[in-house]
Amino acid sequence: MQVSDVVEEFRGLDWDGPFPKEALARAGDALEAGKLLYFPDLAFRLLPGEEIFLDDAVSDHSRKNVSFDPITGQLGATTLAGAEEKKLAAMLDRFGRQARALLVGLVPNYEIGLERARTSFRPVEIAGRPTSPRHDDKRLHVDAFPTRPMHGKRILRVFTNIAPNDAVRRWEIGEPFTDFAEKFLPRVHNPFPGTAWFLERIGLTKGRRSPYDFLMLGLHDKGKLDLAYQREAPRVKLGFPPGATWMVYTDQALHAAMSGRFALEQTFHLPIERMLHPERAPLRVLERLAGRPLV
Ligand SMILES: [Fe+2]
Repeated sequence: MQVSDVVEEFRGLDWDGPFPKEALARAGDALEAGKLLYFPDLAFRLLPGEEIFLDDAVSDHSRKNVSFDPITGQLGATTLAGAEEKKLAAMLDRFGRQARALLVGLVPNYEIGLERARTSFRPVEIAGRPTSPRHDDKRLHVDAFPTRPMHGKRILRVFTNIAPNDAVRRWEIGEPFTDFAEKFLPRVHNPFPGTAWFLERIGLTKGRRSPYDFLMLGLHDKGKLDLAYQREAPRVKLGFPPGATWMVYTDQALHAAMSGRFALEQTFHLPIERMLHPERAPLRVLERLAGRPLV
């Protein structure tokens, strides 16, 4: 595997355009092929006074990230309060809006149906952070949410490195989703009948898990817990310096975040009907492999 197999690079763009035809022609197709779109010179500009947030003391360390909910305007997992909390919330909101403008500018098809989920700020160094194997995002994985069933909806994430020094954020990207799924799907067991109902009933999931959600969680866990796979699977190593931005379908591209601190991230959800090539969605790939409908 080479960098050009997994990365599509764009230079000279700004968050809200203008977007050259050449860029539009490449962006949507590359994203939906599972490639990572890389913008090496697209920085998120801090406003005067926002540098004080580049300090891992803004995290209360109860979770991996400080998070902003664009629906409620609330900030979570932070030690900040009052005016400072409001200022960090405004900064994350601004990043989320810019991320949305960039995405729909490059793939106008997504404008309708794109849902903006949480924005996160990741001030804590990844390397050396203690986690359980299942939660260890230094292992190659595709994203799947244990508490929020997606029913086939896509997970797309936009990241930017805002580290104040030269701290590169290091990632690895693995093999194509279909190759990964073919290996691990036979090892994922069906849940006991009634499991989805029960998890919803006791409040562990917001809504009911579909067969798709069970399979995606199974792939996430089996992949992360297979040490031989983690050691030997093909991968490409990438480094994102401060001032760089990147976006990728994290439910499709196998990825691992190896080191770095001070990243911003915006999550989007998209119904597969809004994709340019819905047949490339993990839902459709898994349905073909499993030979049955999964939602
Ligand atoms: Fe992830």
